[in-house]
Amino acid sequence: MKKPILVVSTGAGISAESGITTFRDAGGLWENYPVMEVASADGFRRNPELVHDFYNKRRRDLLKAKPNSAHLALVDLERDYDVYVITQNVDDLHERAGSEHVLHLHGELMKIRSVTNPDYVESLDIEHLETTPATRGKNGDYMRPHIVFFQEPVPNIEKAIELVQRADIFVVIGTSLVVYPAAGLIQCVRPGVPVYYIDPNPADTSSVSGVHVIRATATEGMRRLAEILEDGRSKQG
Ligand code: APR
Repeated sequence: MKKPILVVSTGAGISAESGITTFRDAGGLWENYPVMEVASADGFRRNPELVHDFYNKRRRDLLKAKPNSAHLALVDLERDYDVYVITQNVDDLHERAGSEHVLHLHGELMKIRSVTNPDYVESLDIEHLETTPATRGKNGDYMRPHIVFFQEPVPNIEKAIELVQRADIFVVIGTSLVVYPAAGLIQCVRPGVPVYYIDPNPADTSSVSGVHVIRATATEGMRRLAEILEDGRSKQG
């Protein structure tokens, strides 16, 4: 029998319990780094060395992190649902947890791409995670972090919208819903599709009908969501 489609949109909050700093919480990344210097197209043009160093540090931090029980709970849901993860995160924790379908909206920390040809992408190997503006790919091109900087288009957003429009259930975990177009996905569900928003300090979603807010951390919220979905399935018989 065809499984219902469960689409989940995750932000930095799902990786917080893996020890990866979020952006806008107290002590967040943007408190310690000038976002437009280290994560924008203009910043990269102005000082590529600073940007490479910023992402080198985030890769070093990622090496110390591992998926938490929220990432793993999403994998468990694949038993009863076709689960599609859309993530704003550039870490690879969903992949390492075992999620089958992961769509990155803002790029991938463990990859680099050609400065001149955005379709030429290479995975970094664990021994060579540090990059500089002089880093070249196997094809000889100068390479850059495979990150969608501010001021750059989000190539995967159309695919993400299509997924959300097919969802039978939509889940949002650990995002402040301030960065578009990702934040707009919550408006793309079909009428009547239940939306669950897991966040200990959720943004106001009162303008969107049918949102069930679970005010909790990702790990606790996923425990509660699993129970809610189980109840729903047992009632359906
Ligand atoms: N569990 C779940 N959510 C959490 C937890 C936790 N343990 N801790 C914090 N959060 C929530 C916060 O309440 C907040 O709503 O995670 C969210 C983090 O918000 P941001 O730091 O703004 O991160 P995010 O929404 O993913 O940022 C979006 O902004 O800077 C860009 O490209 C960057 O992808 C990022 C985008």
